[in-house]
Amino acid sequence: MSDWKRSIYCGELRPEHVGQEVMLNGGVHRHRTFGDLVFVDLRDRTGLVQVVVDRNRVPDLIALANSLRSEYVLAVRGTVERRQPGTENPGLATGTVEVAASDIQVLNTARLLPFQLADEAGMQQVDETLRVKYRYLDLRRPRMYRMLELRHRAVKLIRDYLSDRGFLEIETPIFTKSTPEGARDYLVPYRLEPGKFYALPQSPQQYKQLLMVAGVERYFQIARCFRDEAQRADRQPEFTQLDVEMSFVTQEDVLELIEGVTTYVVEQLSDKQMLRPFPRLTYDEAMRRFGNDKPDLRFGLELVDLSDALRGSEFGVFQAALQAGGQVRAVRYPGGAALSRKEVDVLTEFCKEFGAKGLATIAVNELHPQGVKSAIARFLSETQIQQVLDVCESQVGDLICIVADPKPAVVASVLSRLRLEIGRRLGLRDPGKLYFCFITDFPLVQWNEEEGRWEAEHHPFTSPYPDHLPYFDTDPSKIRAQCYDLVCNGQESASGSIRIHQADVQARVFDLLGIPAEKQQERFGHMLEAFSYGAPPHGGFAAGIDRLIMNLLDEANIREVMAFPKMGLGYDPMMDAPSFVEEAQLQELGLRIVPHR
Ligand code: AMO
Ligand code: AMP
Repeated sequence: MSDWKRSIYCGELRPEHVGQEVMLNGGVHRHRTFGDLVFVDLRDRTGLVQVVVDRNRVPDLIALANSLRSEYVLAVRGTVERRQPGTENPGLATGTVEVAASDIQVLNTARLLPFQLADEAGMQQVDETLRVKYRYLDLRRPRMYRMLELRHRAVKLIRDYLSDRGFLEIETPIFTKSTPEGARDYLVPYRLEPGKFYALPQSPQQYKQLLMVAGVERYFQIARCFRDEAQRADRQPEFTQLDVEMSFVTQEDVLELIEGVTTYVVEQLSDKQMLRPFPRLTYDEAMRRFGNDKPDLRFGLELVDLSDALRGSEFGVFQAALQAGGQVRAVRYPGGAALSRKEVDVLTEFCKEFGAKGLATIAVNELHPQGVKSAIARFLSETQIQQVLDVCESQVGDLICIVADPKPAVVASVLSRLRLEIGRRLGLRDPGKLYFCFITDFPLVQWNEEEGRWEAEHHPFTSPYPDHLPYFDTDPSKIRAQCYDLVCNGQESASGSIRIHQADVQARVFDLLGIPAEKQQERFGHMLEAFSYGAPPHGGFAAGIDRLIMNLLDEANIREVMAFPKMGLGYDPMMDAPSFVEEAQLQELGLRIVPHR
């Protein structure tokens, strides 16, 4: 028996343990000397407890106690005692007790760390690249450990929930063939035939559909996905999905499952408020009311269309936009009438950053046409102003923010961002709420201006509504798909669809996407062939696990919820990856490096 093994965790000590002799293992979080006393905050994975070394009680231990430094690894034997009145620490779960040390063993020493873990406020200022370079130290912080633990619990709850409902967890390959999820692939060279590559999966999409052809009926996986795309606050090059597929289901069945598993996890792990049942909006409705397909439903301030009200106005910008088939739309900014000229300029710049040519505003000081202040008032009749007030359902104090553009998509995109900014300023984006909603009936395809072709809005396996098949030949933009997203607080959390299970429909979609017959065979021949052997109707979804954890922990950056995230440009400063490899390795793979031009 080793004489240093713990009898209890630091963070578990409570008044009920007073009088017990314990053995603790952990690291020195913080230490200080106070007269005859040395205090050590000892930390293990469960939390901290204060250890006291008292010169009057253990004179032989004082020299050792004084030699301790932050992050030394200790085994401490001692007795649990109640803290003196007035010295309790209400900020600590173990704050009413302390451990009077009778013996301390130093199991290991530690160099001075690149940052001070005990100073949580200071840690907020530490350069993030440094934190990620020394992630194994950063993760010692109780806050980071809690994140890892919550992630573990969330995944376990998901596994329990789905297993209880007959789903099988099945692993699919990481070395595979390019999957069309829209990002660039990460490629792995194939040594035995130079010029051939595996692709890392952007998602297990094709495998899970093939598992349905295989008769599995209910599949899930906690799946790692790899996408070489621009990083953002909620996007990493490798991330984790809850990936699900089911056979013999309708869209309704899938939506019920998504809602079920999501609420199960959120309710078990947080006190956050949700709207139940999750509201459902069609894509068209979301675009009309919020200007985008991932609305934040925690507040109203929906967009209003002023095109009809302002069609006859004398303002050139509005006339030009409307004549070109564009729109004039607006969003209310409650209290915004009080903004200074400069502050309105800031809003205007905000809109311009997102593509607007300008921002027209109407300050509603009183609820009638003479009670407003606006640079464009002279171009508008009283009737028009009254109509604007009515259509916007204005209130005194509002600033009506109007954007016009020949492209409706520009108006929608600018105003949807402005709406979020107004919501943020007014404190309406309450982190205590997780307002999930479903967006359904997405267009099957969208027109890619630059490349002059139709591209899949989701992915090419998404099933169109059967009664929309005639639009393939007339107006593909009208085709709506049995495709859905789960959105939370303005962010996409999950996405899925009912799939195409008939080879002829699949080929028609490939045709529409302009994938020539040979390419169809080359890239997706295995799928088309599989569908020809009796594929059941099936559908599913994938949810971003990292994003779910962000929502549960109110983290704005995805890196905060991953054990070992990548920094910008996919760089890992801890392993120093990616890195150059030996010339011999390249030769073996038949590769030669040609510098970027
Ligand atoms: P999709 O591409 O929409 O669908 O991805 C599903 C969910 O995965 C999360 N996600 C990401 N999270 C972090 N970093 C990223 N780079 C990233 N990309 C996506 C999002 C998103 O909603 N095969 C389909 C699903 C299906 O049809 O079943 C798919 O992968 O939360
Ligand atoms: P201008 O005629 O460019 O001086 O613009 C007059 C006012 O209209 C300014 O407040 C502009 O910000 C605003 N404005 C210009 N373009 C647009 C637009 N596309 N939509 C809404 N307002 C605009």
